[in-house]
Amino acid sequence: MAEIFTSKSKDPISKPEEVRNFLKNKGIEYRFWDAHAQSKPLLSMDSLNDGQKEELLLSFENRFEELKSEYSYKSRDMIVLNPEIPGLDAMLAKFDKWHYHTDDEVRYIIDGSGIFGFHIQGEKFEVKVSQNDFISVPANTNHWFKLDENKKIKAIRYFQDMSGWTPVYINESDLVTIQ
Ligand code: LAC
Ligand code: NI
Repeated sequence: MAEIFTSKSKDPISKPEEVRNFLKNKGIEYRFWDAHAQSKPLLSMDSLNDGQKEELLLSFENRFEELKSEYSYKSRDMIVLNPEIPGLDAMLAKFDKWHYHTDDEVRYIIDGSGIFGFHIQGEKFEVKVSQNDFISVPANTNHWFKLDENKKIKAIRYFQDMSGWTPVYINESDLVTIQ
């Protein structure tokens, strides 16, 4: 279940209804989607070869079908990050700076965890996502992403238009924050 950290409250927001409502008010859709039993053996493995990745993706295909019927997603892929992945730090360095995309950022965390930072409606907040969290962030939303101390995540990414996927970087000083 996602947890939200804001400057306004000492404790994170972690009750399912409060998480959903907070994110909804910011334009982010949130769902908690349990993995199927048949996905679990592959989910518990750190490194996956291409065949195993495809098998794992296929075990979540009914989620993709469900999303396709509601939205115009056209493709999906899976990212698997852990300290064994060559070039992990270089990959993470692309996303830990403020950026936006011209496509929606749609992520289904199927294993592990990570942290998104958002700047929406003049407010900065962080969302810790973990296994079974699905979020859909509208295009052009300022954000960053980091792994947490566990340095492990598997996530399915859904795309409407892959050309909208390149990050557009912004300067922190250009974010107008309302205190
Ligand atoms: C991305 C996320 C991690 O751009 O911000 O893929
Ligand atoms: Ni991004």
